[in-house]
Amino acid sequence: METVEALAKLFWHDPVSPGGASLTPTDYPPLAAAGYTRAPDQHSPPRRSRPKIRGVEGAARWYGRARSNTVVRMARLCVNIDHVATLRQARRGVEPDPVWAAVEAELGGADGITFHLREDRRHMQDHDVDRLREVVQGPLNFELAAVDAIIDFACRIRPAMAMLVPERREEVTTEGGLVVAGQVSRLRDVVAKFADHGIRASAFIDAQERQIDAARACGFQVCEIHTGPWAIAHNTHHRLDHPEVARELERIADGGRSILAAGMQFNAGHGLNYRNVGPIAALPDVTELHIGHSIVSRAVFDGLREAVREMKRLIVEAST
Ligand code: PXP
Repeated sequence: METVEALAKLFWHDPVSPGGASLTPTDYPPLAAAGYTRAPDQHSPPRRSRPKIRGVEGAARWYGRARSNTVVRMARLCVNIDHVATLRQARRGVEPDPVWAAVEAELGGADGITFHLREDRRHMQDHDVDRLREVVQGPLNFELAAVDAIIDFACRIRPAMAMLVPERREEVTTEGGLVVAGQVSRLRDVVAKFADHGIRASAFIDAQERQIDAARACGFQVCEIHTGPWAIAHNTHHRLDHPEVARELERIADGGRSILAAGMQFNAGHGLNYRNVGPIAALPDVTELHIGHSIVSRAVFDGLREAVREMKRLIVEAST
């Protein structure tokens, strides 16, 4: 329970109050007492003691020093834009455009753009993917089922990462993690094919040792832990000290430790929102968070750029 106790100290109350304002150490003294300090905005260097900088080398030296004194590690935010396409497909028209959404997300500070091309094409369409490839400046993450036609499509697009997920036509969204154990030889071939095209492969899995072991055996470079059960528990009980919430968080933390111990990158996603993202972003060495529905939902009221900016701010704050 070590992780939960440490995090409970930081997030005993929700990091976001019901009004949407963020809790800061000054608002809530126990956070300051626990050594919690506000993370400096990663885009603006610390203001104090900035020396006179001469030339490119001087700037590089100063930046290196400044960085070593500031944020050590921060989870990257990859914004899933499928939900924008879902809205467009409700009318089978042209708006809202998920590619435009990707640009807005990047302007809001997204570190990557994620999308899922489903076999039934219920939201993203092939032409969206071609346009994303041209427009997106940062890493592009292609979510897909291990189906030959979509694998070939992904190999043509050459995203930074291919994220393998289970897919069922009846489901509203991805419901559970990929059962990697049991299809190791098939998935090993898929991972190898991606590697031949210079694409990193990620397995979206439940936080279970046997899935992690199987993912390592397949050669996946990345595992994304399914945070849906955590999200449901947190959204139900709203407290980190509730046993069910604590158990789900500990499960993800344990999974993350095993993924790292197996030499893979630890990512997390599904069901994360403005209220429950903090403790996940604060887990040691979580590299990327993939978040869609909650950001697009907030964008209805605040605009996408602002919705991404706010999510990013919560992640930065939790990652110190
Ligand atoms: N990660 C994976 C593998 C997913 O399938 C999804 C949903 O498409 C997400 C993250 C994002 O989930 P949400 O839309 O609930 O934020």
